[in-house]
Parts: sequence; structure tokens; C-alpha cells
Amino acid sequence: MVAKKGHPRILLVGGGAREHAIGEALCRRQKVNLSVVSHNYNPGLARLACQFERYKETDVESIIRFAQHHRVNLAVIGLEDSLDVGLPDALADIGIPTVGPCRDAARVETSKLFARDLMRRHDIPGQVEYHHFTDVNSLRKFLLSASHDYALKPVGLTAGKGVKVMGEHFGSVEGAIAYGEKVIQEEIGGTSGLIVEERLIGEEFTLQAFIDGETVLPMPLVQDFKRALEGDMGPNTGGMGSYSEPDGLLPFVTRKESDDALEILRLVLLALRTEGMRYEGILYGQFMVTDRGIRLIEMNARFGDPEAVNVLPLLESDFVDVCRAIVGGTLRNIDLRFARKATVCKYVTPPDYGIEPKVGVPIKLDIPKIQSLGVRLFFAKVDQDQKEDVFLTTSSRSIALVGIGDSVEEAEALVEQATSYVSGNYYIRHDIAKKEMLQRKALRKEIAVAAYR
Ligand code: AMP
Ligand code: GLY
Repeated sequence: MVAKKGHPRILLVGGGAREHAIGEALCRRQKVNLSVVSHNYNPGLARLACQFERYKETDVESIIRFAQHHRVNLAVIGLEDSLDVGLPDALADIGIPTVGPCRDAARVETSKLFARDLMRRHDIPGQVEYHHFTDVNSLRKFLLSASHDYALKPVGLTAGKGVKVMGEHFGSVEGAIAYGEKVIQEEIGGTSGLIVEERLIGEEFTLQAFIDGETVLPMPLVQDFKRALEGDMGPNTGGMGSYSEPDGLLPFVTRKESDDALEILRLVLLALRTEGMRYEGILYGQFMVTDRGIRLIEMNARFGDPEAVNVLPLLESDFVDVCRAIVGGTLRNIDLRFARKATVCKYVTPPDYGIEPKVGVPIKLDIPKIQSLGVRLFFAKVDQDQKEDVFLTTSSRSIALVGIGDSVEEAEALVEQATSYVSGNYYIRHDIAKKEMLQRKALRKEIAVAAYR
């Protein structure tokens, strides 16, 4: 794309399907001079961008130079790694406002200990029992005498792959102890800390919100499927797919539960402000509906991937205006509108993704046919082949296919139809958002609520 004078000059950091959806939303309603920084090539973003530079998303110095060179006047950060190294702080130092919190506030995601302690300090609802270990012997002693199951989580970032749950991922307490020891000794997640949390049982949902430091505007709820294999089996991944409903709720979430979740995010923001931290960006809450009410599983300081590809295509307001309001403290004046449609995302991934992904496997796409179905296609991490319609897998997810319809059933059927225009030896979770699966979820909720009465 050719750069033009007078258009907003926006820097977008990151090169996955989430960032492709962000870039697409930024360019949807007005001409934007988009500068993208991503360590990987992204064919979708390369098409949208006026400038595309392959720096690491944590290479603050190069990104700052790039932003100055292109006289960027707004930045949007896609991924947590850039928040963890304080890219928004560095951009603020040179006068570039950024959709993405400062490093201190981003600890709601980058340190699970900070997030849990913050909730405890401010008595925020939705808490869980948790313990912090840095010492292998105390961990062993604790788990051997435990009377119920726990979830084991590295304190730092692991791209969604570090959490392991007793009763799901381990055959015995010894297995859990061995994993905990590994996290502590090998400093998985970048620090030698481990959080051991009471194991919760229930359905999970995501609530994302725009935040300008004060006002919190929610997006439609999304359910993400983290497990690699059909039937929610296998290891946790970054997310294999997701869906949302036209009314912004989910089959197993009531309006009250959704409001409670939003209130928790509001209280988190208030807690950060009380402690002197500004938060301008996206706050993402992962919640679980349990038979004792909703619980906060984790927070992210950015859009979810895949959740961004569900909500951003539905955004009817101008996303550039929303971003300006986030950094300008004027979100309360934004008329935030989303189309009342259902969405279903299924990720095309390399064979054996989540276990031992096969790299360099060709995937051929008939893009015009996919688009003729109205199915949206967001590139994640693929390399381009010599042929224009062939892409090669990397070790990460490849392509997000997103169906939009009047019902989840319709959106799901569209994605399945689209897969007939994707050929190659790829893996996809066909079971995501199938009717039988959603009926089961709605039923579980009814049983849980009845038991609680
Ligand atoms: P997180 O990275 O904290 O979102 O955790 C990844 C996944 O691990 C979550 O989406 C849950 O499925 C599972 N998980 C995390 N914490 C717990 C918990 N306390 N109890 C049960 N499952 C959990
Ligand atoms: N979908 C989970 C995440 O973005 O971390």
C-alpha cells in the first residue's frame, strides 16, 4: 500500500492472526498509513501495511527508531512480549500514545503472582485459593499433604502453554511435583516462581474490554478452546478456535454473570489506579463459571488470540476513533457498536500442533472461494511459498478461518464449508462450536445452577 500525507500514521506491533484482525479493523473505515513490526512475515498484514519491518517485537530500540522514522502518531500493541519489555513506556517517552498499558500495569498478565496479590490486596471478587512457591521442598511437602487438586502455573509468560492441572494433565501427585520442580528449576516463564491454585471446574469464557484509564467498555463474550485435541483433550495451546453469540453472551453465561465479570475488570482497573498505575488499552479477563459463582482464571493486557478475530470483524464503530479515545481518555463519548451476529473461528494449524508441530508443510488456499462464502481469513504464522496461493507451516498456528452468521450453527457451517477450499496436510479441530457441543455446555450450566439452588 502507498503511504499518503494526512492519514493517521499508526504503528502495529505483532504479526499473528490477532494482529491481522487489528490491522484490518484499523484500515476498515478510513485510510490509514499502517506501519507493522513483526518478527515473522504475515501475508495479510504485508498487504495492508505501508511499511513492514521484521524486527523482534521485544526489540524496543529498533521499534522506536522505526516509529520515529515513519513519524507514527499512534501505536497499537498486539502481544504481551512487547508489554513485558515496556514498549508502551518507551513510546510514551518519545511522545507516541499507545494502546497498551505501561510495563507496571501489564503485570496483571506478565506476573500471575502480581495479578493474584492485587486481587487479594483490594478484596476483588472472583478470587481463588493460591500459593506461591520458589522452593522445591516446600512445594513437595504441600502437594503431598494436599486434600484436593491444584492447577500449577509458572509465574511468568508461557504463551498459554505453561498451566497444567492435577486430575487432567498428571496421572499422579508425583507427576505434578515433577512438573512444579521443573518450572522452578528451569525458570519456565522467566522467573523461578510457581503458583499453585485450587483446581476449578466449570466452563470458561473471555471478556475483553477497552479501557482509557477510567472508562471500561465491554466487547461481546467469547469462548476459546485451548486444548489441542478434539473433545478438549491434549495439552493447552494458544487457542484452537472460539465462538461468540449474537447477543454477546454465551449459552452457559447469564447476563448477571457477564455483568459480574465486567465489575471485576472495573475493580481491577480501580485497584491499579489506586496504586498509581495508568492503564490504557485492552484488558482481557478469562473467567470460569463454577457452581460457587464466577472466578477469574487469568488476565491478559491485550486482545486474546483468537478472541480478537471474533469481536473485531463485528465492530461497527471506527476502530481508529476507539483507539484515539483509549489514549485520549474520552472513551465515554464513544458509541461502541458491534453487529449482532454470531462468529466461529477455527484455526488451521500444522500437523501435530500442540505436540510436535510439523514445519514447512504446504497449505493451499483458494482465497476467492473462501471469501465468496463471506468467511474471513486471518493469517497467523506462515511462510509464503513460491506460488501465490500456497503457504508453508511454521511451528505456530497457520490461518484463522472466521464464519459470521445469524447463529453459531450458521457461522460454524460456513467455516466447515471454507475448509473444502483449504488443502494440504493440516490439523483443525472440527468439533469446535458444533451444535452437540454447545447443547452439552448449556445443559451443564442448567445442572450446576439447579444443584446450587
Ligand atoms: P491460564 O494461562 O492461566 O489462562 O490457564 C490456561 C488454562 O488452564 C485455562 O484456560 C484453564 O483451562 C486452565 N486453568 C487455569 N487455572 C485453572 C484453575 N485454577 N483450575 C482449573 N483449570 C485452570
Ligand atoms: N486465547 C488466549 C490468549 O490470548 O491468551
